[in-house]
Amino acid sequence: MKGTTKKTLERLLFLCSFVLSSIRTSTTLDTVTPSQPISDGQTIVSPGESFELGFFSPGSSRNRYLGIWYKKISMGTVVWVANREAPLFDHLGVLKVTPQGNLVLLNSTKGIVWSSNTSRAAENIPDARLLESGNLVVEDGNDDGPDKYLWQSFDYPCDTLLPGMKLGRNLASGFDWFLSSWKSTDDPAHGDFTFQIDLHGVPQLVLKKGSVIQFRAGSWNGIRWSGAQAMVRNPVYTYEFVSNETYVYYKYELLNSSVFSRMVLNASGVSQRFTWIDRSHSWVLYYVVIVDQCDNYAFCGAYASCNINKSPVCSCLQGFEPKSPRDWSFLDWSDGCARRTLLDCDKGDGFLKHAGVKLPDTTYASVNKSIGLEKCGELCSNKCSCTAYANSDVRGGGSGCILWFRDLIDIREFSDGGQDLYIRVAASELGNIGAKRSSNDKKLLGIIFGSVIFIAMLAIGLILYIRKKKAKTKNSLEKDCDDEDENEVMELPIFDMKTIIKATENFSIDKKLGEGGFGTVYKGNLNEGQEIAVKRLSQDSGQGLKEFKNEVILIAKLQHRNLVKLLGCCVERDERMLIYEYMPNKSLDYFIFDESRRKELDWHNRINIINGIARGLLYLHQDSRLRIIHRDLKASNVLLDSKMDPKISDFGLARMFGGDETEANTKKVVGTYGYMSPEYAIDGLFSVKSDVFSFGVLVLEIVSGRKNRGFNHPDHQHNLLGHAWRLWMEERPLELIDDILGESCALSEVLRCIHVALLCVQQRPDDRPSMSTVVLMFGSDTMLPQPKQPGFFTERNVVEAESSASKNDSSTKNEITISLLEPR
Ligand SMILES: *[C@@H]1O[C@H](CO)[C@@H](O)[C@H](O)[C@H]1NC(C)=O
Ligand SMILES: *[C@@H]1O[C@H](CO)[C@@H](O)[C@H](O)[C@H]1NC(C)=O
Ligand SMILES: *[C@@H]1O[C@H](CO)[C@@H](O)[C@H](O)[C@H]1NC(C)=O
Ligand SMILES: *[C@@H]1O[C@H](CO)[C@@H](O)[C@H](O)[C@H]1NC(C)=O
Ligand SMILES: *[C@@H]1O[C@H](CO)[C@@H](O)[C@H](O)[C@H]1NC(C)=O
Ligand SMILES: *[C@@H]1O[C@H](CO)[C@@H](O)[C@H](O)[C@H]1NC(C)=O
Repeated sequence: MKGTTKKTLERLLFLCSFVLSSIRTSTTLDTVTPSQPISDGQTIVSPGESFELGFFSPGSSRNRYLGIWYKKISMGTVVWVANREAPLFDHLGVLKVTPQGNLVLLNSTKGIVWSSNTSRAAENIPDARLLESGNLVVEDGNDDGPDKYLWQSFDYPCDTLLPGMKLGRNLASGFDWFLSSWKSTDDPAHGDFTFQIDLHGVPQLVLKKGSVIQFRAGSWNGIRWSGAQAMVRNPVYTYEFVSNETYVYYKYELLNSSVFSRMVLNASGVSQRFTWIDRSHSWVLYYVVIVDQCDNYAFCGAYASCNINKSPVCSCLQGFEPKSPRDWSFLDWSDGCARRTLLDCDKGDGFLKHAGVKLPDTTYASVNKSIGLEKCGELCSNKCSCTAYANSDVRGGGSGCILWFRDLIDIREFSDGGQDLYIRVAASELGNIGAKRSSNDKKLLGIIFGSVIFIAMLAIGLILYIRKKKAKTKNSLEKDCDDEDENEVMELPIFDMKTIIKATENFSIDKKLGEGGFGTVYKGNLNEGQEIAVKRLSQDSGQGLKEFKNEVILIAKLQHRNLVKLLGCCVERDERMLIYEYMPNKSLDYFIFDESRRKELDWHNRINIINGIARGLLYLHQDSRLRIIHRDLKASNVLLDSKMDPKISDFGLARMFGGDETEANTKKVVGTYGYMSPEYAIDGLFSVKSDVFSFGVLVLEIVSGRKNRGFNHPDHQHNLLGHAWRLWMEERPLELIDDILGESCALSEVLRCIHVALLCVQQRPDDRPSMSTVVLMFGSDTMLPQPKQPGFFTERNVVEAESSASKNDSSTKNEITISLLEPR
């Protein structure tokens, strides 16, 4: 009897609170107390409404779980689950706090499905609340000290590391904070993968499947995990690592708490960081823990190092050779390498320095933070079992000492950054390696003999070649007399008019590919089936035949994988034509400015294109013998080959059309509005830095998928440059990113692109970096200077520039193009 009244009362209470909660619509409850449980359908919300706690069903499952998710983000991204292993099968679950301070989750028959375990009994009436950080805490309002919380969900991470959560170990209380993956997107039960700090030897961050290490981020070197090159200072979060007697942990905090960022280990064992981008309403990938082949744990086996820029990627360390040469030659590196000469501790071994590496597995290593490198070397040298040593902290020139005691596993080389590692080898190996002498003298002899023959053959070949050359140049028009070095002028095939007419079906309109500043481009097919692009130049260059050919030959010598290859030319009467390799994928503008084709260029393609353009331009500016200023770099002048690799076109053409500078200034204004630097458009001053400006514009266009010119935004009158600058100043640069890129992009990389682009479009040419600096900036993670205001960032400026330059804006084709040769 008593039981049923209680039940009715409870039902009534439940109904009441249910009605109440539906009346109070969005603001559900703040806390759970012993007298105020929550049931399925009710939630509690953090004070700033970032997070919400309640019941949910993951993926396509119908099971119910108690969990925490982002409230402000409608996608319902779950960050924590209570009853991971014990789902409820109906909507009748209830969460309670017991008077002792335990959270209990009850099913419909009041069976306990899950409970928390308080660290001490509550002294006052406890309550459970959700903090703004996403931490569910139980407190009794009694204590402000370290034991303030009777229990907190941050001590029991699931698959997500939120800002402020710790990954590591509390050595005093025994809390082991690690991420463990869900079984699947439908099932939050413990999956196969964990991401944790392994405390054996020197603490290191590892990703495991079961008990097997898949990936090792490495030990902490004072700045980052030894193998996590991509961990750099960034505008989104800061991080720290603590290792002392009581704690070993990693954690991060957001720089701006209204930006959401989380680290998650997904059900397939991929550990990634996402940042929420409001504008595109999606989680964008910011950082992936495993980047390439070399990140697979022990990919090359023992005593070998992995270098992703080499082929094959694995190689034995100096003084070591493949353990099973046969497997090794079949690209199975798992057996690793062994010493060529055994150690002999008594005779005194030596150490070889390997610079720029990820330190090997520290499971069997020890650290002493208070001694320096020299002492470290002594210690290692004095212990015969010590196989290597290194600084434990790289800050300020290095300090601390790690000693390794077993095989050295999971080393990789970085092209940039990385640490110095000193590896023990037999004393005799030191000499060998110094002189690069092979122990096998016969082999050496063979090499010398082979080399002599090779050199002799080379010499004979050269003599023959020069003779032939001399004979040919006699009856060749193209001899360049001014420069002795030009003697080995490459001879450019001359196509005859008939061939070209046939190839292009008499310049059929169907074969027309496009029209540029210098003339019209047609597609052609040669007899052999080769596809070509024919540029039929407009006829106003005013250049003589011989000069024209000389120019073409000079330009044909510019060869770089990011420049379109000139195959030949055709000159007959007034016709002048250039024959290029054909690019099946058209030009960059065809993709990035097109609503649907944009999707075909993911971030990987785009960064590849940006890097390619940078290298091509660097070659023109600096590495080619001519030093060419392009002067009309733009999206339509960047062609794409079948692999979507970029090739700059129309370079050097201005040389033919240029004439002198005065002419350039008065007769023709060069370049394309939207890409022209201010000093050039207004004053006609050009330099390599004007190309750098155009490059910067192009990068912003590639990142955003928007045109600089013709850009419009409801909030302001600026062009794309101005828009990018505004977002940069407001510290919201990520909003520039093309929505379509979504999760394909690595945000840190995108940010760097935007940063470099803004440096390139600065108002003053002197402030802009040279292309060689730009290439360096892309290739490393050094700190970049703050950009200053860009040139031409308002539409008004552009209009001014247009009117001050001679107007030639009849159609969309306002491209009068000249590029320039700077004498060397
Ligand atoms: C509720 O939980 C208890 C204990 O876990 C269990 O024995 C009981 O079968 C569950 N009831 C339902 C309806 O699932
Ligand atoms: C709760 O914690 C105590 C000690 O803190 C431990 O002895 C006990 O086994 C725990 N109970 C559960 C259910 O985890
Ligand atoms: C360990 O580090 C934590 C966090 O920095 C600090 O609060 C604590 O006092 C340190 N403990 C010791 C024993 O140094
Ligand atoms: C944090 O970000 C929000 C939203 O992007 C922005 O409105 C706010 O000004 C930023 N706060 C700081 C201190 O940067
Ligand atoms: C985990 O992330 C990877 C990479 O983003 C993705 O390919 C995979 O499908 C994800 N797995 C699950 C179960 O979501
Ligand atoms: C570190 O080295 C110093 C100097 O040799 C020594 O006094 C100290 O005991 C060592 N510390 C540890 C933890 O081994």
